[in-house]
Amino acid sequence: MQNHDQTASLNPILVQGAMDVEIETLVEALSDVRVKTFGSWTFWEGQIKGYPVVVSRTEIGLANAAASTTLGIEHYKPKFVINQGTAGGHDPKLFRGDIVVGTSSFNMGSYKTEFTEKGQGMHPTQWQNFDMTMYLRENGEVVKHNHFKADPELVKLTMSLASSYDKGQVVEGVIGTGDEWNREVDRINWFHENFNTAIEEMETSAAAMVAEAYKIPFVSIRVLSNTDQHGQDFEPQTAIDCQHFVLNVIDELIKAQ
Ligand code: 5AD
Repeated sequence: MQNHDQTASLNPILVQGAMDVEIETLVEALSDVRVKTFGSWTFWEGQIKGYPVVVSRTEIGLANAAASTTLGIEHYKPKFVINQGTAGGHDPKLFRGDIVVGTSSFNMGSYKTEFTEKGQGMHPTQWQNFDMTMYLRENGEVVKHNHFKADPELVKLTMSLASSYDKGQVVEGVIGTGDEWNREVDRINWFHENFNTAIEEMETSAAAMVAEAYKIPFVSIRVLSNTDQHGQDFEPQTAIDCQHFVLNVIDELIKAQ
């Protein structure tokens, strides 16, 4: 076991979850825990197998995710950022308990609409999203992003552990993020068909955007806690199962350092 002086010189793994049920299992796995809160956002600093790991409660939604990721990166200079937690199913092939390893994510809730006259109604399927919504300034130039890609090595390492998860399948997929919770199945299918979303949730693309700005390898690992494709309602146990899988990923990542 390394002591604090040795581990302090290593860049930690930052692992995020929005709600208590999505982080408590991770926090329990830490040794030598110290808790710090900046504004609304709490971080549990500790170690796993002697390697520094910081668990972050982002709170819910894009703005919280962006703020807490920025704080986490500025304070801890992490080597990797892992976002994880629950999500709702879009892909009808997926069921509650399945895990999606996000190869990319985007802001699903950002739209512009064409001008129409008073009385012409609302046309959500015509709303245009995504292609000009996320701006990052990189080396002085504004870069438009319509998706944020996960780090391919983190995706590969996560997928290599798929067979260790016995609560469902582990698949790669696209994550749609919005300050939304969609339950209209036609709308869910529209997202899936037009944007290839496997799941929806409320934090990944915001955390991915900040990680991208700092060029820190990022992956989001999300469990389906609910899916209206199969009439399956929110099940909190899925959040705990997901954390156990993420702890395996963290162990493997530590071994590779
Ligand atoms: N739609 C949106 N967010 C969801 N979450 C779980 N399922 C869904 C869903 N179907 C997650 C979000 C947020 C919290 C409310 O649960 O990421 O953190």
